[in-house]
Amino acid sequence: MDITSFLESVFADFSSSIKSVDRLCILKTLSFLNSSTPDYSNRMIQQLYLLRYAPAYIYEYEAFYEALMDLEGSTSFLRIFSIGSGSGLDYYGAYRAIKKKGLPPDFLYYSGIDVIDWYYRTTLNNHRYYFYKQDVTRLYSLPDRFINVLFFPKSISEFSNESFSRLFEVICNTAFSREQINICASVRRSRLEDDYKRLVKIVECLLLKGDYTLDLTHNSLEDNVQGESIFYPEDIFHFLSNLRDYCPAYRRRICRGERDCDTLNRKPMKDTGYRQYWIIRLVRKERN
Ligand SMILES: C[S@@+](CC[C@H](N)C(=O)[O-])C[C@H]1O[C@@H](n2cnc3c(N)ncnc32)[C@H](O)[C@@H]1O
Repeated sequence: MDITSFLESVFADFSSSIKSVDRLCILKTLSFLNSSTPDYSNRMIQQLYLLRYAPAYIYEYEAFYEALMDLEGSTSFLRIFSIGSGSGLDYYGAYRAIKKKGLPPDFLYYSGIDVIDWYYRTTLNNHRYYFYKQDVTRLYSLPDRFINVLFFPKSISEFSNESFSRLFEVICNTAFSREQINICASVRRSRLEDDYKRLVKIVECLLLKGDYTLDLTHNSLEDNVQGESIFYPEDIFHFLSNLRDYCPAYRRRICRGERDCDTLNRKPMKDTGYRQYWIIRLVRKERN
């Protein structure tokens, strides 16, 4: 997966999308301040989301899957269930990690679930890729009990307390059957404590059921990540950092005084210094 070509193709679509509207106000809602949730069903919001975050997140997910496979005792293949998978950036990350390790693509078995079928999703020609367009909280249990990775890629904070309680039930109702199950989340730093509590709650439920025992916990802060800078095409970076000026209404000064238009100029992420993920591993208890 070539990240630059991916960005260029999303950018070409984004440029034509914004030419067809008179105001870019909707894009101001792409913000995670005050626990707000953007309307991911909007195509322009998806495009801007990917342009701002895709390279940084793909690198983060790649590092996460590499770290996971490098942990002592890891199984040799990944069978992932990704909750809130979006356009599958974590799938690209896993794919890249596996390629980097010289492993064949069929080591990767991936299922993603999302209430929205995002544009720009691709199977990367892997027939072991599944996507469920569904609200995960409406299930009784997860559709795959053979997984060894349960991952929340920047999604655990997107659930309200009420919907998280339902999601919690869904996970607890799942009769996981692998020898090992890794409960993992990659999160935004703004909600670390709450997100970690949610992950621990899931782990506690699985421990209480009695089939698994805690093996290890891994926190990416232990990786000593200094925050590497990542390549980002300069022209796209410049365009997005001045996005406000491409809003026709703003140019006609209709919106003078609306200072939140500045948020349109939020810069794309160009480094991995914010990186934060956790891995909590459970292993199956020996049967007597
Ligand atoms: C911040 S986005 C993360 C997308 C992607 N994982 C990434 O790394 O870019 C959170 C995703 O969670 C999804 N989501 C939120 N609530 C959900 C639910 N109840 N069931 C399924 N997906 C949900 C949203 O639709 C959104 O795509």
